[in-house]
Amino acid sequence: MAEHFHALTVAEVVPETDEAVSIRFTVPPELTETYRFKPGQHVTLMGIVDGEEVRRNYSLCIAPADGALKVTVKRIAGGAFSNWANDNVKPGDKLAVMPPHGSFTVPFAPGNARRYVAIAGGSGITPILSLIRTALETEPASRFTLFYGNRDSRSIIFLEALAELKDRYMGRLELFHFLAEEAGDVPLFNGMLDAQRCAEAVDQLVPDTGAVDAWFICGPGPMMDAAESVLLERGIERGRIHIERFTAGRPSAGEAAAIARVQQQAAGQTIAVTLDGRTRQIAFDGGNILDSARKAGMPAPFACKAGVCATCRAKLVSGTVEMAANYGLTDEEVAEGYVLTCQSVPTSEGVTVDYDV
Ligand code: FES
Repeated sequence: MAEHFHALTVAEVVPETDEAVSIRFTVPPELTETYRFKPGQHVTLMGIVDGEEVRRNYSLCIAPADGALKVTVKRIAGGAFSNWANDNVKPGDKLAVMPPHGSFTVPFAPGNARRYVAIAGGSGITPILSLIRTALETEPASRFTLFYGNRDSRSIIFLEALAELKDRYMGRLELFHFLAEEAGDVPLFNGMLDAQRCAEAVDQLVPDTGAVDAWFICGPGPMMDAAESVLLERGIERGRIHIERFTAGRPSAGEAAAIARVQQQAAGQTIAVTLDGRTRQIAFDGGNILDSARKAGMPAPFACKAGVCATCRAKLVSGTVEMAANYGLTDEEVAEGYVLTCQSVPTSEGVTVDYDV
C-alpha cells in the first residue's frame, strides 16, 4: 500500500442520483483514531484506472457523530476516477484511503448560538451536509440556511436527507433550491447561482448578513467565485467566508513565466525536509518542493498537485518560498507558516520544511 494510505473495505455502495454514489467504508478498530474527522473534511482515494495511479479527494458526507466513514462520488464528464468508481466499486472491495484532512470547518460546541449560511452547487453539497448535520445536532441554539444550486430536481444529491433534516430540526434549517433547467413558481429560484442570483438571494433571504458567524461555499469554480465576490462586496469579513475548492483554474501566462524564473534560480539548491521524524538534505529539482522530496525517495503526501487540496501541506521552518497557487490553505494557516509544497519554490537559501507539524 502506498505511503499514508490504508486499504479499507467497502461496506456499502448507495446510488444517490443517476450520476452519484455514496461509498461507505469499514474502519477496523485499530484505525478508528486515524480516521476520526471534523465535519467538512475530506479523504483522498487512490485507484488504478487503466493501469495508472489516480488520486482524488472526496468530502465526507456524514457527521463525525454518525460513526461512519462515507464519501459521495459524482461522475464528471471524462473524469477517470469518478466514472471508474461509479461503474466498478462494490461492497467487499478494498480501496486505498488516506486519513481525513482539510480545513473547511469551524469548531462546533453545544453552548454556541450561531447563524450559519452555506452556498452549495452540485456535489459541493457533500462537505456542507456534514457541517449542517453537525451544527444542528451539536448546537441546539444555532440556525443554518442553505442555498443549493442544481441542474434539475433529478440531479439533487441528498434531496431526501436534507428534507428530513429540515423536518427534524424544525425552524432551524432553511433550505432553498435553485434549479438551472427546471422552472417553479418563484423566479428567484429558477436559474443558476450566478453572481446576480446569488446577490439577490443573499439580499432577500439573508438580510442580517452581519449576524452570520460563518459562510460556507462549495461547488463549481464559477459559482464559488461569484458567491465569494457577492459576500465580499457586502462587506463580509474574509475570515468568516470558508471556501472548499476541488479544482483550480490555470495560471495566466504572466504568472507561469514568473514562477518559471524563480524555479530556474532555485534549481540545485539544498533544502531540508522533515517527514515521519527524519530530516534529510535534498536538492531542489527545479520544479517544486513536493516533487523534489519524492524524487529523493521521501514519501511526501499529495493528491491534486494543483494547490487545491492541501494534502501536501508542510510548515516552512526557515527560509522563504513562493507558491505558484494557493487555493487550499486558509489565511490563518499561511500566517502560521504553512505552505503547499506542490506549489512551493525556494526564494532564499536555507529552506526547511516540516511535514510532521
Ligand atoms: S497536492 Fe493538493 S495542494 Fe498540493
